[in-house]
Amino acid sequence: MKPLTPLLLLSLLPAIAFADKVELRTPNNSFVVELKQGAEPQFLYYGPALKSQDIENLEKASDANWSCADLYPAYGATHTQNEICLAMRHSDGNMSTQMLIDSWKESNVNDLAPNGAKRSGQLLTITLSDPLYPITVHLYYLAYDDVDMIESWTDITNGEKKTVTLTQFYNPLLPVRRGNVYWTHFNGSWASEAQLIELPLANGLVEVKNKDGLRNSATDRNEIMLSLDGPARENEGDVIGAALCYSGNFRITIDTDESDYHQYFAGINPDNSEYHLKRGETFTTPHSAYTYSTRGTNGATQAFHNWARKYQLRHANQERMILLNSWEGVYFNINQEGMDQMMKDIASMGGELFVMDDGWFGDKYPRNIDNSSLGDWVVDTRKLPDGIPGLLRDAKKNGVKFGIWIEPEMANTVSELYEAHPDWIIKAPGREPVQGRGGTQVVLDLTNPKVQDFAFSIFDNLLSNYPEIAYIKWDANAPVMNHGSQYLPMDEQSHLYIKYHEALIQLCQRIRAKYPDVIIQDCASGGGRANYGLLPYFDEFWVSDNTDGLQRIFMQWGTSYFFPAIAMASHISAVPNHAVFRTTSLKYRCDVAMSGRLGMEIQPKNMTDDEKAFCRQVITDYKRVRPVIQFGDLYRLHSPYAGDNLASLMYVSQDKQQAVFFWWKLETFKNQHVPRIKMAGLESDKYYTVHELNRIDNKPLSCEGKSYSGAFLMQTGLEMPYTHDVDHNKLNDWASRVLQLTAE
Ligand code: DGJ
Repeated sequence: MKPLTPLLLLSLLPAIAFADKVELRTPNNSFVVELKQGAEPQFLYYGPALKSQDIENLEKASDANWSCADLYPAYGATHTQNEICLAMRHSDGNMSTQMLIDSWKESNVNDLAPNGAKRSGQLLTITLSDPLYPITVHLYYLAYDDVDMIESWTDITNGEKKTVTLTQFYNPLLPVRRGNVYWTHFNGSWASEAQLIELPLANGLVEVKNKDGLRNSATDRNEIMLSLDGPARENEGDVIGAALCYSGNFRITIDTDESDYHQYFAGINPDNSEYHLKRGETFTTPHSAYTYSTRGTNGATQAFHNWARKYQLRHANQERMILLNSWEGVYFNINQEGMDQMMKDIASMGGELFVMDDGWFGDKYPRNIDNSSLGDWVVDTRKLPDGIPGLLRDAKKNGVKFGIWIEPEMANTVSELYEAHPDWIIKAPGREPVQGRGGTQVVLDLTNPKVQDFAFSIFDNLLSNYPEIAYIKWDANAPVMNHGSQYLPMDEQSHLYIKYHEALIQLCQRIRAKYPDVIIQDCASGGGRANYGLLPYFDEFWVSDNTDGLQRIFMQWGTSYFFPAIAMASHISAVPNHAVFRTTSLKYRCDVAMSGRLGMEIQPKNMTDDEKAFCRQVITDYKRVRPVIQFGDLYRLHSPYAGDNLASLMYVSQDKQQAVFFWWKLETFKNQHVPRIKMAGLESDKYYTVHELNRIDNKPLSCEGKSYSGAFLMQTGLEMPYTHDVDHNKLNDWASRVLQLTAE
């Protein structure tokens, strides 16, 4: 594998900061390693920024049994009993490797981040080699100048005369000093993504992993938080946030053995993926990103959000359009008149974009349900006689932009594509393909350059013929269901997962090189691809196919730990909800959707005039506070996981002049007592005027129009009635509030 973003090194600094101790510095953090030629690289410190004298005096935790702070243990020569970062079979069959320091260098970096933004930082490159075999490993640490983020990754070069086989290839590990450490991870399944789980780290090994092949955040996610002094608190305590920036199968292991450290390992999942590295070839691992916060979980979240908005997401300083997506409104029932009506309706409610989802394509095999046509990306003119030009014409007429759904990595066995190219799909050699969704869905084998060209041509045909297309929803609804590439040679079948994701990133880069402006949503059966491996090529992701207001509070809460609101597509949908069949009030659904990138996923034709008028009001209000939600700092105030039936969060603009406060009741009981919520992130001395958005009550809240000091709002907070003051026939069991705060 080649590095994805070659670094442009502007100046090489010979300086080694403190004899053999090297410090990497971000605005508020220091990361210190101890380096000696001929020794293993040692971890010394990660935490708040240090003074130089303290760096000189730093020492690692006592290591009774073995060198417990080695950053890159390799299997076999000295490390056999513990977890390791690197394991390989040399060309002569020897399974032992030892990685010792040859040299290291520090340099300033000024280059382009994966999303194309300029960045600057400090790069430490440590060169390791094996005394017995010509294997070279570079460990890289990149410390950003302006955000508290350190990225680390490695490359492994085979200098042997023949092929070596890599059987484990993690990034450098991160040792975390033992104490009262808790870890939080996010587990889920389809329609129930990103559920937060927090547990203490005890002796033993814990692991999160994904083996889907394609959708690596559908189940366990590759981001975790470590709270170093007891269960995580939002605004206090030391917390490390860690993300593996990868879209393929991953494994994250935290090993707590007899040493003084919990050892965090992250990398490509080596299961069924041993990698044959030919003579002279280099294998590069995906990046790990770390932040250290002394302001609790929230500090780690904000660092990730800032880094994401600067260096990860596309167009992250551009406000996102409010859209209507056709999926839950009409599913496969696409037709020209219906699309025109939906465009007209979303425009009349103040929306800015209409996205036509699945069901628009297929000639010989029309896509009427999910059992055919993927791969045949031609308009079904029985449904859409005027084709895409007709849709663009109608969008223009209605004053909205137009977007379209595709699933470029897939085919159905019932398709013209499959008839022409049965050899383009992933399947086990000699076996019948296993078919997924609709009984016929298969995954295209992106390792094949012809398939890569085909996938690119889907974008190219749409975007070069119709440059007015403003938005693409890129979906992926299947895992690898049986292992095998019809393109890779038999002795490289184990490269399938890795090569697939390498090709996927190359496809994204090719698309972005030609079409930098188009907005692309990252969707995979809902939130199956929310990861920082892919997001640098996308603008946003679909959080979940579950649009139920109540469950979305939980899913968006978990998702918010690492991903900012601007990236979280969050849509108002119909009731009973199509995933959980719960009936929540329209206001509740709007108040939840508004806390992310607002959109709609509904058939407006089925809405009453009152409902449409309310949504028009919501969209108008959202436009007012959109910059605060999309670019402001998030403060989580009260967790839905706390068990007292309330959730609350707020966004504060970076200049602290504006804020938006969200408050949702989760369950309603008679004579219920809910806690008063203290706000956060405001300026104590400023006075903020309160205005309720999306109001349905007959009487305004008692705080309406009043001004409160930031100190009062943060120390005491406002009383929220737990029901709504509405006419008797409008009473229901849902209550929520959205308040706009404006500094005087
Ligand atoms: C799965 C996505 O998550 C949905 O939003 C929708 O686009 C369907 N696929 C369409 O088949």
